[in-house]
Amino acid sequence: LDESLLEGKRVLISAGPTQESLDPVRYITNHSSGKQGYAIAKAAKRMGAEVTLVSGPVHLPIPEGVKPVFVTSAQEMFTAMKEESVQADYIIMAAAVADYRPAVAAQDKIKKTGEDLVLKMVRNPDILAWIGQHKAPNQIVCGFAMETRDLDQNAREKMIKKNCDLLIANNLKTPGAGFQTDTNVVTIMTQDHLEHLPKIAKEDLGVLILKTMKEIEKER
Ligand code: C5P
Repeated sequence: LDESLLEGKRVLISAGPTQESLDPVRYITNHSSGKQGYAIAKAAKRMGAEVTLVSGPVHLPIPEGVKPVFVTSAQEMFTAMKEESVQADYIIMAAAVADYRPAVAAQDKIKKTGEDLVLKMVRNPDILAWIGQHKAPNQIVCGFAMETRDLDQNAREKMIKKNCDLLIANNLKTPGAGFQTDTNVVTIMTQDHLEHLPKIAKEDLGVLILKTMKEIEKER
């Protein structure tokens, strides 16, 4: 591993799930462990970068030398990413951001009644799409996609729609891929290249993503 490959580069990574409050005691979330994002942060640090990790609630230690920014909800993550992205060269969005949040977060605990409960959800901002739309000419942006079908097709559409330079697509249904695991099975996609990778450790995938971003930057 080249420990000076990313010297002078500022890398911003989002990781983990978000929690969307229903009331003071309940929230809606997903199964993201944060492992992929944290592994990328570790890899970036090992490669000599200055690393900021915007993290949702997870049970992982912050890699040594990495600057953490802790958030809870998608809206908080959006605010943090907008602020931190100003100083970033490479931006990698590995977080599993909740697409919807409860329309109202009740001030007091919601009491049970004899009736069913209907919950209204509203859209959260798409952070990656915003970053893609507002990226500076020197910034390189990498998104993730978690699909259960038509992986390549959906991933390519996502890359174009969100204006990413790089998209990592994982198929939730493949063994050794996705949530909670230390490995991943992914397709790596750039504007003019697509490659199906064999099972890979999440940190090694981090190294590969960062090397690819460096290549994209060189070719500009
Ligand atoms: O559209 P979809 O959620 O499948 O896109 C996944 C990618 O978009 C991931 O990189 C994820 O971090 C990002 N995303 C985001 N904000 C959202 C939803 C997804 O940044 N509200």
